[in-house]
Amino acid sequence: MSPHDDAHTTAVTPAAATDNGHTHGTGHAHGHTHGHSQGHTHGNETFDFDWGVLSTQLEQEAEIRHPLYRQAAEWIAGLLPAPGARRVLDIGSGPGVVSVLLADVFPAAEVVAVDATPELLERTAARAELLDLGGRVSTRLAELPDAVDTLGEADVIWAGNSLHHLGDQLAALEGFTRRLRPGGVLALLEGGLSARHLPRDLGVGMGRPGLEARFEARLAEWFGAMRSELPGAVRETEDWPALLRAAGLEPSGTRSFLLDIPAPAPLVVREQLVRSFTRLRDKNLAEGAADDQEALDRLVDPEDPQGLLKRPDVFLLEARTVHTARKI
Ligand SMILES: C[S@@+](CC[C@H](N)C(=O)[O-])C[C@H]1O[C@@H](n2cnc3c(N)ncnc32)[C@H](O)[C@@H]1O
Repeated sequence: MSPHDDAHTTAVTPAAATDNGHTHGTGHAHGHTHGHSQGHTHGNETFDFDWGVLSTQLEQEAEIRHPLYRQAAEWIAGLLPAPGARRVLDIGSGPGVVSVLLADVFPAAEVVAVDATPELLERTAARAELLDLGGRVSTRLAELPDAVDTLGEADVIWAGNSLHHLGDQLAALEGFTRRLRPGGVLALLEGGLSARHLPRDLGVGMGRPGLEARFEARLAEWFGAMRSELPGAVRETEDWPALLRAAGLEPSGTRSFLLDIPAPAPLVVREQLVRSFTRLRDKNLAEGAADDQEALDRLVDPEDPQGLLKRPDVFLLEARTVHTARKI
């Protein structure tokens, strides 16, 4: 069964923009190496990204969230003046799952997938070819925000889980504003509610109840440290509509989209989760809590009956928030 068959996406309107400062639940890919650019460090922690290495994980994550992204993209299409979009920029496009979706939702548009990681752009091109969309989906290797003014004009700019990887987010938004045509829409996927996958109590022998909540809190610390080490990092109040306005745009609505895959989750969700939890282990998120470490080791063990691949109670529940703004 495809995860899409089992995924219920629900628009929650209007959204409370619950930006909890990271919104990267265990389902998100972070802390990887930025193969194309700088590594940066924080104490003993290295925020040395290698997105290329993470391409399979990014691809699976986006595929699982496909119904949610489709709903968001269709909402954005409705915000555009007729005749709709002729050119769409997908900023920090990753493996291109969303780029080809945008080509589908904006059938008259050329979509440009913009990313700094060549391997991910190669995946995007291959995906577009496979879906016979190669003529309308192109790729652009660009290190942002420096290259923003080389990207040409657009009617829609989609920045999905990418803005927070840029040190000066407001400056980046100002760059996107310059690229938008009048009437064009910027859609920012930032915030929401972190993904949850497990019941509060994992059972006897699996440590204290509340494991995912503790990981989420530690991940928030990690995320803050990661952001503070980005080149040119500027701390902002993450009031996205206010930042969009400050960047010269007119906010045109915020909505959250729910991904609800009930237990027992299909294998593809579990496999992605094993990767995510393995990354939590790599980030030492259970450090100092022996029972959490033990539970984590058991969860990622493919043979353990209490592990993520075997236990019947694994689900995926997550909300992603999309902030939009128009260029007047
Ligand atoms: C978390 S992934 C999001 C991928 C995709 N938008 C999605 O939602 O599936 C972040 C992406 O931003 C790209 N990225 C990070 N920093 C960048 C930069 N400075 N310039 C261009 N792309 C960057 C990474 O290569 C990666 O593909």
